Amino acid sequence: MRTEVAIIGAGPAGLMLGRLLELAGIDAVIIERKSADYVLGRIRAGVLEQGTIALMDRARAGGRMHDEGLVHHGVELSFDGDRHRIDFTALVDRHVMVYGQTEVTRDLMAVRQAPAIYEAEDVELHDFDTAPFVTYRRNGVTHRLDCTYIAGCDGYHGASRKSVPEAAIQSFERTYPFGWLGILVDKPPVSDELIYAHHERGFALCSQRSPTRSRYYVQVGGNEKVEDWSDTRFWDELRRRLNAETAEALQTGPSIEKSIAPLRSFVAEPLRFGKLFLAGDAAHIVPPTGAKGLNLAMSDVAVLAGALIEALQEKSSAGIDAYSSHVLSRIWKAERFSWWMTSLMHVFPETGAFGRRIQRAEFDYLAGSRAARQSLAENYTGLPA
Ligand code: APR
Ligand code: PHB
Repeated sequence: MRTEVAIIGAGPAGLMLGRLLELAGIDAVIIERKSADYVLGRIRAGVLEQGTIALMDRARAGGRMHDEGLVHHGVELSFDGDRHRIDFTALVDRHVMVYGQTEVTRDLMAVRQAPAIYEAEDVELHDFDTAPFVTYRRNGVTHRLDCTYIAGCDGYHGASRKSVPEAAIQSFERTYPFGWLGILVDKPPVSDELIYAHHERGFALCSQRSPTRSRYYVQVGGNEKVEDWSDTRFWDELRRRLNAETAEALQTGPSIEKSIAPLRSFVAEPLRFGKLFLAGDAAHIVPPTGAKGLNLAMSDVAVLAGALIEALQEKSSAGIDAYSSHVLSRIWKAERFSWWMTSLMHVFPETGAFGRRIQRAEFDYLAGSRAARQSLAENYTGLPA
């Protein structure tokens, strides 16, 4: 088999790239390790920047998103119970949309004309410096796919980044000594807007998926196990970390999903190796505090699609030559913002009294300074591509 672009991974990055290429008339094959149902069963983030909303429209996949997505004009920050709203519209005249990554994935799957190859085992990338090809096994049979370019969109644990020789790639990493315990519940959200709460017991986030479905998180220690968190224990802990009025209004119920995610910052450099390009979680991870993971993946593949179209149709390598440095500049800014939001909102075991006073001062500075709030709003709603 032969194709122009072999895309490894059918997460949002791989599916969006496949769709943008398909609309440009470029043949691409998506190879995914899991089944489509498994991919759709993963509960991930839920906040879309305006650039991501526009990209869904460009992919002609935005119909349901506009019907069901919830436009948010601000978020609330809470520090030891003191609340402050960040008004995106007033500060930067921009907004975000709450629409689950699972739904983004479903919509992209639905519009794609060419089917993706699911349940491909032992995916391996070969000769990406010269004449690239990908091998995989399906139903016990080994297949070979020859291609002009490979796009590694297979997430942090995927095969693409791992196939690059160690000497050719540099990794920058920070792991945080805590995780987020998340719960999904069929109850209306406690507030119209998201609430990011700092409390001496740890961070909490009130998020949502729809007017009747809510997503809540609490910061937990790095060694905590989800089995040790009954729903009751979760709700009790969440209430303690919210301000009294919000805690009072919280509607609780049985969880329909509960999991712990570690927090990590990670960037690989460079993101091009001959004819292989890395994008999305394969290239970088951000802690979820700034809601940047999905959006960053989308902006990577928007740039990559343009570069590949230019290379294949106009025979110009300018775009693919610039890809790595172009996207890394935006990636590092999103890394900085996600690290900063994480540092402000969480309790760090090693911080001590001085560090907590600094966090409080940062919150008070935000509450008192339009410039500080504007910077937060500009980053949260998304820097230009
Ligand atoms: N071969 C083929 N596919 C693979 C392999 C492999 N060896 N390893 C992983 N995959 C698949 C995964 O099963 C997954 O479906 O690659 C896909 C990667 O998707 P995501 O992890 O969702 O990553 P990405 O598409 O870059 O999306 C960005 O935004 O909200 C954040 O981290 C969140 O997933 C999110 C990301
Ligand atoms: C979510 O709804 O899952 C969510 C929202 C905002 C974040 C992270 C996660 O910053």
